[in-house]
Amino acid sequence: MDIFEKISSLAKRRGFIYQGSDIYGGLAGTWDYGPLGVELKRNIKNEYWKTMVQMRDDVVGIDAAIIMSPKVWEASGHLESFSDPLVECKKCHHRFRADTIIDEVKLKAKDFSITDYACPDCSGELTEPKTFNLMVETYLGVVEGEKLKTYLRGEITQGVHVNFKNVLSSSRVKLPFGIAQVGKAFRNEITPGGFTFRSREFEQMELQFYVKPNDEESMKWFEYWKEERRKWYLSLGMREENLQFKKHNQLAHYAKAAYDVEYNAGGDWKEMEGIHHRGTWDLSRHEQFSKQDMTYFDEESKERYTPMVIETSGGVDRATLFFLMDAYYEEEIKDGDVRTVLKLHPKLAPYKAAVFPLLANKPELVEKARGIYDKLKCDWMIAWDERGNIGKRYRTQDEIGTPYCFTVDFETLENDTVTVRNRDTMTQERIKISEIYDFIKNKLQ
Ligand code: GAP
Repeated sequence: MDIFEKISSLAKRRGFIYQGSDIYGGLAGTWDYGPLGVELKRNIKNEYWKTMVQMRDDVVGIDAAIIMSPKVWEASGHLESFSDPLVECKKCHHRFRADTIIDEVKLKAKDFSITDYACPDCSGELTEPKTFNLMVETYLGVVEGEKLKTYLRGEITQGVHVNFKNVLSSSRVKLPFGIAQVGKAFRNEITPGGFTFRSREFEQMELQFYVKPNDEESMKWFEYWKEERRKWYLSLGMREENLQFKKHNQLAHYAKAAYDVEYNAGGDWKEMEGIHHRGTWDLSRHEQFSKQDMTYFDEESKERYTPMVIETSGGVDRATLFFLMDAYYEEEIKDGDVRTVLKLHPKLAPYKAAVFPLLANKPELVEKARGIYDKLKCDWMIAWDERGNIGKRYRTQDEIGTPYCFTVDFETLENDTVTVRNRDTMTQERIKISEIYDFIKNKLQ
């Protein structure tokens, strides 16, 4: 089994992620997050918000509508060029992204003959590549024939740019400043796959950071955000050797620089986030199409200009998938006995701790443990388990990434102490019940 298969199997078995519309045979490219997945994903989004908005004086957040005026997508260029090259097999009619079959450089230069390639599924003949727009269409309105054709947003970015002036006039921001957003995006991907890696519905976490239109200064901000984003993944426990930056060699005509943050997914480097210097493109285009002034008046220099933008655009689902992969270990404990453990950072772990009574049939243990559990759950997601033997319960918590298990045993009844078992080291120590709260709190710093 490769790492994608291992993670998708664990994800389904333990309630992290299920195939969307599973009981109807599944809807390709859609995923549902289960009881543990929703916690992990929410923790990732909360950490993002804390770092990128809450802890900063120069970034504010917004939450824009998913459905926007179709004019937005004209202005952004999505209707014209947000597409992938598609080839179809003339025999089995399977469709593929042409760049997964034909070398990307040759494809762009149109320097190839399609007859040199064959369908990966049945070796049939392929059609010439044609452009396939990824925007998902939708219709608004009630009168047939008068419905407005629009789109589910293909990226969350444009909701920020169209609100640039609203944020300027309604808050106290001054350049340089950023607007962050987290939310759903939709793309009619030709070949969704790699578990949640390429989905048709997914979430993005983005920052649009507006700076003076000065090449040198804006490049400093670009480098700054590149490093900040790297540090964020590392601060949540992602292993340094599994992260790298990949420079884009071919840039859009308006872009000044672009890098991908890549994750090493079982030996294959995959894009997790993009850091883009987009020049003044987005605001200028919205100014052109909306006929609204999108410039900024600089009180200090008394100049009016269109700011440049540095964008950091990460996928929440990809981060969730790669945090899971990064935390996944199969460890031999003794004599071929292997445990599966998710060494998730406590900040990301779905449950911050578990509380157990040693034995389920001893009411005095259950009652004592229940008291601890009821208090802790006011502040954190805490697991409760009283079934089976204690070793099995530890294993279950290991597999879902719970960093600490507190067990109430007979000694607890004598001296108000519990054992705390560490997921990663499997060691145990005794602490006072009164110390549990601070113990967990310290691990979440
Ligand atoms: N606003 C810029 C933008 O959307 P992008 O590189 O197309 O740039 C940014 O997307 C991030 O969104 C990617 O790095 C990836 O993490 C995530 N993403 C893009 N397409 C995705 C898909 N089909 N499924 C899951 N995540 C996706």
